[in-house]
Order: sequence, then structure tokens, then C-alpha cells
Amino acid sequence: MPRSGPRSRSPRTAARVRPFREEDRPFVVSLADRTQREMRRLDRDRHPPVRRGEAAAWFEDALHRSWPRGTFVLVAELDGQPGGFVVAGPTDEPWSRGAAGRAARRTAAEIRELHVAPRFRRRGLGRTLLRAAEDRLAAEGFGEVVLGHLAGNDGAAALYEEQGFRPRWVLRVKSVRRHA
Ligand SMILES: CC(C)(COP(=O)(O)OP(=O)(O)OC[C@H]1O[C@@H](n2cnc3c(N)ncnc32)[C@H](O)[C@@H]1OP(=O)(O)O)[C@@H](O)C(=O)NCCC(=O)NCCS
Repeated sequence: MPRSGPRSRSPRTAARVRPFREEDRPFVVSLADRTQREMRRLDRDRHPPVRRGEAAAWFEDALHRSWPRGTFVLVAELDGQPGGFVVAGPTDEPWSRGAAGRAARRTAAEIRELHVAPRFRRRGLGRTLLRAAEDRLAAEGFGEVVLGHLAGNDGAAALYEEQGFRPRWVLRVKSVRRHA
């Protein structure tokens, strides 16, 4: 039996990806809340302390107001349990459109969120979610997809690198202060 092939790469993965349903809301919100705390460890400035209920308000606002029309949420289940979610769709970020390049600018999409619950990590869910989002974006006619992550988020960087996402722009940040 050859070692290569679709089953040998992630033998433990039998994830099912499906569209977000209303009953996923508590899972999505609590996972977003948890990730926000993890991200705070990487970047305290952009991720202030998380207050109770903040993730719920964020998701509500994002879903109904801030994410552009056409944004979709997919949920990955493993053994019938929701284990992660991805949010993708058209981009409204000028830097993303720029990063996508002139030719692709009009058809650039964005992976906005990708979260896998800690107990489901390293079982292929992140990869499966990314690929499902890409399949849908391709079917919708998008030509290129961009995403960003915090510097120092090495797990995300490794996954994105493995899946073929290459750096095109690097965003550098500095606090503004007087030199005099
Ligand atoms: C980043 C994240 C989505 C990865 O999800 P995951 O389901 O664990 O990823 P997968 O199991 O599909 O990993 C696929 C490959 O990516 C790489 N990878 C994933 N996580 C990694 C880690 N922590 N360290 C090193 N490589 C990693 C590996 O190459 C892995 O393959 P392998 O397990 O066969 O070695 C998950 O860790 C997460 O939700 N983190 C917090 C939120 C976040 O950082 N989101 C993305 C940035 S916005």
C-alpha cells in the first residue's frame, strides 16, 4: 500500500464542513472569546482585556453590520461536535485589495477569521476549513484570497504557508511620539 494519497496525510481527520447555523452561535462566540485571549498574549496593544459578553457583541455586529454582503461562515464538525469555524468573503480592506495586486483587485476575497477549538487542534480542521472556504470562493468567481495574522502567531503562519499563502505586503507598526 503506497504511503502517499489522500488518507495518509491526515488519517485522524473526518471533518465535515457545513454552513453556520443559528445553534452554532454559542460555540462561535465562546471560541472567538477564547482566541481573543490567546491573541492578547501576542499583541497587548491591539487586543485589550476582553470583557464579558464582548465576543457576542462583536459577532452580532460583524455578522449584521461590519462584514460586507456576501460574507459567509462555515463550521467544521468532528465526530458530530463543532470544532472550528472560518469566515470569508469579499474584502473591504484597502490594504487587502492592494496586497492582492492590481490584476486581482476587483476579484479579491479575504479569509477574515479562522478559529479551531484548542482540543481539536492539529487534527486537520484548520486546513479543512481553509480549503472549504477557498472552494466556495473559487466557485463564486474570486481570483485571489488574502488574509492577515499577527506576527508571532507561528501556528497560523505554518498553516497558511503550508496552504500556499505567501507574504506580499508586510505591515510595520510603531507608536507615534516626538523625537525632539
Ligand atoms: C491556527 C489554527 C487555526 C490551526 O488550526 P488546526 O486545526 O490546529 O490546524 P491543522 O491541524 O489543520 O494544521 C495543518 C498544518 O498546519 C501547521 N500547523 C498548524 N498549527 C500549528 C502549530 N501550532 N505549530 C506548527 N504548525 C502548525 C502544520 O503544518 C499542520 O500540519 P500537521 O499537523 O500535519 O503538522 C488554530 O491553532 C487556531 O485556531 N489558533 C487560534 C486562532 C488563530 O490563530 N487563527 C488564525 C489567525 S487569524
